[in-house]
Amino acid sequence: MRSDSGNHAQSRENVEPEESIRPIPLAAAVITLAMVLFGVIYLLLYEPLDNSQWGDQRTLADLAGSKPVAHGQDTGMAPRVDGKALFTAHCATCHQATGQGLPDVFPPLDGSPWVRGEARVLANILLHGIRGEIHVKGKQFQGEMPNFQQLSDAELAGIASYIRGSWSNKAAAVQADLFAQERKAARGSTPLAGEAALEALKDTVSGSGQGDATSVKPVPAQAAPMPPKVSGKTLFATHCVACHQATGQGLPGVFPPLDGSPWVRGEPFVLANILLHGIRGEISVKGGSFQGEMPSFQHLSDAELAGIASYIRGSWSNKAAAVQADLFAQARQASRRDTPFAGEAELRALRKP
Ligand code: HEC
Ligand code: HEC
Repeated sequence: MRSDSGNHAQSRENVEPEESIRPIPLAAAVITLAMVLFGVIYLLLYEPLDNSQWGDQRTLADLAGSKPVAHGQDTGMAPRVDGKALFTAHCATCHQATGQGLPDVFPPLDGSPWVRGEARVLANILLHGIRGEIHVKGKQFQGEMPNFQQLSDAELAGIASYIRGSWSNKAAAVQADLFAQERKAARGSTPLAGEAALEALKDTVSGSGQGDATSVKPVPAQAAPMPPKVSGKTLFATHCVACHQATGQGLPGVFPPLDGSPWVRGEPFVLANILLHGIRGEISVKGGSFQGEMPSFQHLSDAELAGIASYIRGSWSNKAAAVQADLFAQARQASRRDTPFAGEAELRALRKP
């Protein structure tokens, strides 16, 4: 007979551990599943991927390009403008998303007295551009800033308000009618000649001065149509130097060189397409890879574009033949695209008609 005490002792023993397949404990499975679900839902709901602090500082708005905004039609309702998105689309290539600019090339907006100071002066900078010497935070700049007349008053006010209130700037927002007013005080279509012209602005009486004898007379809309005499070099200095530099060397990692570039010296049809449509995406030039944005220059005439293209093909160490205006007429015909090329793969695929 077995003794009961022996049975009790046995049943108190734990089972000998053995190797076998054990499922994940239910609790662990549930927690894991919950975390994955949370992640998916978070991504879907909050779209945190538009954070420009990550990656190359371009936001989704930047990548999508500027949205066409209805001009003219005055619905009485102020169009909704997003100053930050507009800034990213129009200004950040040069002044950078951080507002710090690039040393010696593009002046900072953060902490700049031109931005924080009198709003009228800022409005004129945006409406007319500026070319010549200007000092910002103790540093001298001698570059060129394009004008942004093509943007609406509301859009410009959005941008101006954004830069006046961003980074360390704490200046008050500005209203769209400031831009309407300054447009009326039209002072021609040339960029302001540096800081001297800006200082002079501060002294002129603002607004639609009643009895203001010295108020600026509107410049007659572009005098007699003169046949445009185009100098490729001058046009290059006006439209391209800010980025590609007068030496044609560009800026390392930011703007590719034109000197020695196969895109410049090579097939003229491809070069024409670059100038007409711009590029946004990866392109390699002389062993360096660039991932920036080159604006389109469709608004220049065929003769002007041919002048620029001929100039860059024959300057610095480049010795390629000049090109004719009809190349651009042809390239315009061949493609009616209105988006920039998405990098060099698309350029390589270009076929001459
Ligand atoms: C192609 C490059 C480029 C773009 C795009 C550009 N700027 Fe500029 N900006 C410049 C340069 C270069 C100067 C200095 C001009 C000079 O030296 O005379 C300048 C000067 C300025 C100044 C006066 C100096 C300062 O730092 O305060 C302001 C303000 C300014 N830009 C605002 C803007 C805003 C706002 C936009 C977008 C709507 C913009 N810029 C787009 C190149 C650019
Ligand atoms: C706002 C800055 C900017 C301006 C202004 C600009 N470019 Fe560019 N350009 C770029 C950037 C950035 C790229 C590279 C684009 C990329 O990474 O997809 C580029 C690429 C090019 C290329 C192909 C790459 C190479 O180096 O050969 C050519 C050619 C070129 N630009 C010519 C011009 C000419 C000519 C003008 C004046 C009509 C001009 N660009 C004005 C920024 C600019």
